Amino acid sequence: MLVAGIDIGSLATKAVIYDGADGAIISSACIPSGARPPQAGERVLQQVLEAADVDRDAIAVIVATGYGREAISVADSTVTEITCAARGAHFYEPETRTVIDIGGQDSKAIRVDPRGYPLDFALNDRCAAGTGRFLEVMAGALETSVDGLERLALEAIAPVAIGRTCTVFAESEIVGLLASGVDRAAIAAGLCRSVALRTAGLARQVGVEPRVTLIGGVALNRAIVRALSDVLAVEICVPALPQLVVATGAALVASDRADRHPSDLDRRCS
Ligand SMILES: Nc1ncnc2c1ncn2[C@@H]1O[C@H](COP(=O)(O)OP(=O)(O)OP(=O)(O)O)[C@@H](O)[C@H]1O
Ligand SMILES: [Mg+2]
Repeated sequence: MLVAGIDIGSLATKAVIYDGADGAIISSACIPSGARPPQAGERVLQQVLEAADVDRDAIAVIVATGYGREAISVADSTVTEITCAARGAHFYEPETRTVIDIGGQDSKAIRVDPRGYPLDFALNDRCAAGTGRFLEVMAGALETSVDGLERLALEAIAPVAIGRTCTVFAESEIVGLLASGVDRAAIAAGLCRSVALRTAGLARQVGVEPRVTLIGGVALNRAIVRALSDVLAVEICVPALPQLVVATGAALVASDRADRHPSDLDRRCS
């Protein structure tokens, strides 16, 4: 049975189609959320359907999650990002006991049980500090991209201490450091360490039990992974496509619902 998961994040909208018979993801897509999340949800669904070469009617259940989940009409139901992050991380890394999701606008730490269900979680959704958006603004201050910031940080000999965590104040601090001649690479590494320290504080609220799996778009930044591993003194595991993990979790919930209520689906499809 085919099902779909859609994750409407604050910056990126992701979708996957999951084949319950094979236990495999058969297509995936990631597009900017933009100013109209409902349209992004519809567009990303269309993209995964085309990539899998299947019709909408072939999808038994669609579950939406993420910041914009309530705004879309293409989904049959919605579920929290916490549940989806836990389920998705367990799918890719079954030994996961702690999930850390660093997204565009918030970050989360979740302790999960051996079956991939959440036991406890902590959330930073008050400000951009320690998120992908923070790194985007800081990359701008360093006149580079997020990839450029990662490259700089990886080549640094040592990070410079960044005192401010607030995005606005940290940006002024970077400008000051650059004006006083501090090496850009050391600043980039300091920024990654600052995100890692903030994330570690969140993770410690739920207890850091290995295996620790890092997901979300920021997990693509190897300098962040290294800094977080140093700060927490644990190995950090990053699934192959970390930005798609929450959408995968939504698809797994959809698959459970499809298995549980096949007669409802028959009625809906007839
Ligand atoms: N290669 C990369 N290196 C570093 N950061 C990246 C990379 N690719 C994407 N990102 C960052 O990932 C973030 C988006 O990640 P993600 O899709 O997980 O967020 P989201 O789900 O939209 O946000 P949220 O969960 O906070 O609502 C952006 O800030 C983007 O800059
Ligand atoms: Mg997200």
